[in-house]
Amino acid sequence: MTADTPKVVSPASLDQANSFGVSAQAAAALQVSRRDHFYHLHELPEYRSGPVMMLGGGSNILFAGDYPGLVIFNRLAGRQVLDATDKHAYVRLQAGENWHESVLWTLQQGLAGLENLSLIPGAVGAAPIQNVGAYGVELADVLDQVEVWDRQRQDWRMLNNKACAFGYRDSIFKRDPERYFVVNITVKLRVKPKLNLRYHGLRDELNAMGLSNPTPLDVSRAVCTIRRRKLPDPARIGNAGSFFKNPVVSPEQAARIGADYPQMPCFGQADGAIKLSAAWLIEQCGWKGYRDGDAGVSERHALVLVNHGCASGASLWDLAQRIRSSIHERFDIRLQPEPVVILPAAKTDTP
Ligand code: EPU
Repeated sequence: MTADTPKVVSPASLDQANSFGVSAQAAAALQVSRRDHFYHLHELPEYRSGPVMMLGGGSNILFAGDYPGLVIFNRLAGRQVLDATDKHAYVRLQAGENWHESVLWTLQQGLAGLENLSLIPGAVGAAPIQNVGAYGVELADVLDQVEVWDRQRQDWRMLNNKACAFGYRDSIFKRDPERYFVVNITVKLRVKPKLNLRYHGLRDELNAMGLSNPTPLDVSRAVCTIRRRKLPDPARIGNAGSFFKNPVVSPEQAARIGADYPQMPCFGQADGAIKLSAAWLIEQCGWKGYRDGDAGVSERHALVLVNHGCASGASLWDLAQRIRSSIHERFDIRLQPEPVVILPAAKTDTP
């Protein structure tokens, strides 16, 4: 080991490292704050022998149990406009940067494209993993490339948008969680904005603000207003945003359910499949605002599980299972969790 080998803390508390605010421990933890730290990881026995996980803001994870391996906190910092023409600019954001602050920073540079993704909690490095999306835009729409540390090859690698195999809240990083650490992302942004106002609620909000000709900054403000109204703030009440993905079903299945529930929201997809609202399904089963001890379902949004104070990760996971069973019984749909769930004994349930 050398002076450049990152320092390991063992064991390490994860209580402050997850937005659910549940109590959990990792067998060991370290911080990566410089690129060359990656080269030295293999010198550590904790890295070589056990499970390893990289964590950014901890806002899309549920620790239903302790983590028996090494947690690497990504603290790589920096934001940079790489290249600009009169139409586009390429912006590189290091994985340890806060996502929302980075969105605001790009807007301050006069660059558009990330405004609909304002106020999403977490770090830049987590954004490509679940292909964050909101209000009609997802990261894949603007992402140019992702630089990763390839654990198999022990080297850096640039993955272009196609290689990331993005899907709805999905990517190669989610499907092959052991292989890559996200180091930075490069997004292609617009100098001349082209706003995406397809989401009805966003247009309504802008109208309510009296803005008929909004700027990207106005859109960002409107998104922040909607999110603050609809979603509980993880700084006040522990949560990880949407806990389930919206299920995508066949038109036949949607029609079967729709026959009994004509008011059910349905969103047609490009491939003919139908996306249903998990929040609506959960609300129909009576879970919205439900509380069992400190584990509950937000009364603002049925898709968000909340920790009212001292809920354990296990009790939140138990509640999630009960919600899943009731949706399955009533609608014959199996909801998939959106966050990464760390189960006791290190079984990771990545949807
Ligand atoms: N709805 C209910 N009950 C509720 C909330 C919503 O029935 O308590 C119904 C309404 O019919 C509404 C529909 O669900 O029209 C959709 O609700 P919303 O617009 O809030 O969006 P969502 O599909 O529930 C998704 C993302 C959110 C993102 C919003 C806005 C997923 C899993 N979630 O939620 O992302 O902010 O759209 O674009 O795709 C996140 O991933 O953590 C997240 C918050």
